[in-house]
Amino acid sequence: MCLTAVLSARPCGISIIVAGRDDSMEITIRETTEQMAVAAAECAAREISRFIHENGRAAVMVATGASQIAFLLALTKRKDIEWARIAVYHLDEFVGIPPTHPASFRRYVRERFTDIVKPAAVCLIDGNAPDLDMECRRYANLLPPDGIDVNFVGIGENAHIGFNDPPADFHAKESFVVAELAESARRQQHREGWFPTLEDVPQRAISITVPAIMKSKCIVSVVPDARKADAVKCALIGPVCPACPASILRNHPNVHLFLDAPAASLVERSALTNYQLK
Ligand code: GLP
Repeated sequence: MCLTAVLSARPCGISIIVAGRDDSMEITIRETTEQMAVAAAECAAREISRFIHENGRAAVMVATGASQIAFLLALTKRKDIEWARIAVYHLDEFVGIPPTHPASFRRYVRERFTDIVKPAAVCLIDGNAPDLDMECRRYANLLPPDGIDVNFVGIGENAHIGFNDPPADFHAKESFVVAELAESARRQQHREGWFPTLEDVPQRAISITVPAIMKSKCIVSVVPDARKADAVKCALIGPVCPACPASILRNHPNVHLFLDAPAASLVERSALTNYQLK
């Protein structure tokens, strides 16, 4: 993919530093996390409403993580989304922590999203299920057969999507699997304060697979913070390969990527170089 980056500044001074688009990916970069979150929420609302308009309903999948907090806050404030026509799913859940744990993604989904917007249905992954493989199949069967409509896919510090840590399986047959977490992913969870010690971070999670993510009709990926700058760079500039799981997003036909300036700090130059080379 060649990024067609375009420099632009809005007359009001609120800045899109770089906005680029090629056939597959639209990239919006805003100076602050809050500006990025508002722009991403506007895009998500538009895409969700488009599916509701077309089909009478929409299936939305939520990424859970520190990176999604500002975005979900902005999204839940919107008054233009018919939540009663939406079913909500999530990307992943740790194995073995209760749904009351501060790091539980089920808790995250409820507290930061569904308790506020009250969608028609909320489908949660049971990370405490006695048979995890069966839970993977149960959850996969809850998804619409033709895929999620709008998927909010975050990118981890190690460039994972869902809990598909590098090297990710780009050809997994199942939609959900029990994934072994990379040390880098566990360290990120610990550093962010979700768990008191590294040892407390679970070794495994139930996660959507890469092919199931790619089956989504639309992906809204919200990636703030300097901690993500390397991952963003490898996702956009390097080869599409399992060592950089997020790079696969470039093969998807409808991705909207939202970055704040720190997350984009390493890409900007490269993207501009690409542009100038064109
Ligand atoms: C984890 C989360 C995902 C999220 C991803 C990146 O896998 N469970 O839902 O998309 O990480 O987000 P963050 O860096 O905020 O954890």
